[in-house]
Amino acid sequence: MKKYSFYGFILSSLLFSCSAEQNMPQVNITPVPLSCTQSDGNFEWNSKTRICIASPQINRGMVEAALQDSPLPREFTQDAGNNMIVLQLDSTLQQPQSEEGYTLQVSPKRVTIKARSQAGLFYGLQSMKQITDPVASHIQGVDITDAPRFPYRGIMLDVSRHFRSVDFVKKQIDLLSSYKMNRLHLHLTDAAGWRLEIEKYPRLTEYAAWRKQAIWKDWWNGKRELCEKDFPDAYGGFYTKEDIAELLEYAALHQMTIIPEIEMPSHSEEVLAAYPELSCTHKVGAADFCVGNEKTFEFLENVLSEVIEMFPSEYIHIGGDEAGKAAWKTCSLCKKRMKDENLTSVDELQSYLIHRIEKFLNSKGRKLLGWDEILEGGLAPNATVMSWRGEEGGIKAVRAGHHAIMTPGEFCYLDGYQDAPYSQPEAIGGYLPLNKVYSYEPVPDSLSIEEKNLFLGVQGNVWTEYIPTDEHMEYMLYPRAIAIAEIGWTIPENKSWNSFYERILKETAQWKLQGYSPFEISEEIGNRPEALDTLAHLAAGKKVTFNKPYWKNYPANGELTLTDGLRGGWNYNDKRWIGFVGDDRMDVTIDLEEVKDIHSVSATFMQICGPWVFFPTKVIISGSTNGKDFQTLTEIDHKVVKDDLVSFKDFGWKGDASVRYIRYQAQPDKTYGGVQFVDEIVVE
Ligand code: ACM
Ligand code: ZN
Repeated sequence: MKKYSFYGFILSSLLFSCSAEQNMPQVNITPVPLSCTQSDGNFEWNSKTRICIASPQINRGMVEAALQDSPLPREFTQDAGNNMIVLQLDSTLQQPQSEEGYTLQVSPKRVTIKARSQAGLFYGLQSMKQITDPVASHIQGVDITDAPRFPYRGIMLDVSRHFRSVDFVKKQIDLLSSYKMNRLHLHLTDAAGWRLEIEKYPRLTEYAAWRKQAIWKDWWNGKRELCEKDFPDAYGGFYTKEDIAELLEYAALHQMTIIPEIEMPSHSEEVLAAYPELSCTHKVGAADFCVGNEKTFEFLENVLSEVIEMFPSEYIHIGGDEAGKAAWKTCSLCKKRMKDENLTSVDELQSYLIHRIEKFLNSKGRKLLGWDEILEGGLAPNATVMSWRGEEGGIKAVRAGHHAIMTPGEFCYLDGYQDAPYSQPEAIGGYLPLNKVYSYEPVPDSLSIEEKNLFLGVQGNVWTEYIPTDEHMEYMLYPRAIAIAEIGWTIPENKSWNSFYERILKETAQWKLQGYSPFEISEEIGNRPEALDTLAHLAAGKKVTFNKPYWKNYPANGELTLTDGLRGGWNYNDKRWIGFVGDDRMDVTIDLEEVKDIHSVSATFMQICGPWVFFPTKVIISGSTNGKDFQTLTEIDHKVVKDDLVSFKDFGWKGDASVRYIRYQAQPDKTYGGVQFVDEIVVE
């Protein structure tokens, strides 16, 4: 027996992971198991091989679901023996001590999978499938003890911006569950369409589920009109109760819990177009429910009652993100509510709604889950926070003794570009390549053990504003979702980017054969070439005076940014691009410390119009020997044109000058305003 086993509590330096680089046959299982020993002989199956259901409680449907697409035989028996794949439920199983864990032993005589739960058996079967060689008709000899790092390993699909069929969702459950993901969060409601049949409110699906333009951007930038479902070319759709029942049955067999999200108090334009009396203004276009109106609570509780009847999940996600709250300040009902309840701010008014909804959910035996804005104005007593605006929300939640799920945009938003933007379909922005997703560590080091234990896990989110088709959604999901799966399952000591990359190269080919449309990681271009090296130039390391302040939201490396020799990557959130906003914009002076002969001054700006990032309309570069009297070296006028691209443009001067000080000013376009991002001022 060749041992290259792993136990989380043993020093990792003494051991080898299942897929670590080494000179022996590898056991390639994704996500990497907790402990994996390769044994001497493989199990070879033949026409007499049986699957032994050794415990009567084992759900045959689960086994069939787990063996989907597998070449293994499907003849079942209850009597254990040789030439068998034996499945055993054992609620007292000590190793691993995990409800979702399992052991998998493969020897020439038989395969044995033991687990405390159906989920454990399902995951054991998934691991077994991954070491099954269909050509040689054998299963690799192994001895595995495996358990997940986190109980929550999720993906969110936004089915509001673009509706997805039941079959599409099932297809994703197949792939995600085969990598041991166990939560599918469906973003079912948003301005662009309500996606769930609610008997009590038929207008939600007759009207609020349909819109006039298929392309979200056309619709959002246009009149944002919804329409009756029989309007010619009405675009949308919704899940009937039968659809949900079918989906849930399928998900349950795949050990996948579906968590429904019903947005409140905001992102609710579609509801408030169908039922305008529930907003403060009673006018179509409002995004926020009126929190002063009792009818709002009647509506939300009626809807949630039907949701609870449909979905068995412990958690109900109530959104809670990005409420504008402006109308609440002037609405007489909201003002009365604030007075009656002694609420001193609109944040507290939102918190009032969340508290009340939590009470309602708890009374029905369910738990409230919401985006991190539910912390504002005071967190409801039992709520769990999904931290998306960075990690702060999650940290705050666990410090207050609440559970948290980490899904920070920087690492977990799978709607951003996964490669050089020029090579990709238009995305909402960002740059989140596979290796950055994989690098994410959901539990901040700075916390206590008790606080760390409150993190339930991790989730990747696919928002679909810019993702109209099924193929495109799969392209954004895979392989990045599988990096999330490994973060959620595998202990950090067993993670290895090189090994993951090699495994994903192979898996990608397999997914394609199975009819998925993943991003082809072997063709990845990678980060902006300029960002790969440190640049030496005359101004590198020299002091920069900010005559106008930079934008504190995007400080990059602060006052050092523009001369630190570090060029930015494809996205402005990589902490190498410094931001400027407002009318003043960029106005900085570099001190070269002595008069020098210079021949060029140049700075690169980024433009991406979706998030309102624009090139400057005018750049002035001037020089001085004394820091007081500046001579203009160049004035550059640029016509800002709004487009769908991510672009980079140099604004610079070339010539001969002798200066000590260089002043660089960039003015914004008057029409668009927006943000300027610059990475470096390069002086040669
Ligand atoms: C979110 O991205 N608004 C949760
Ligand atoms: Zn109101």
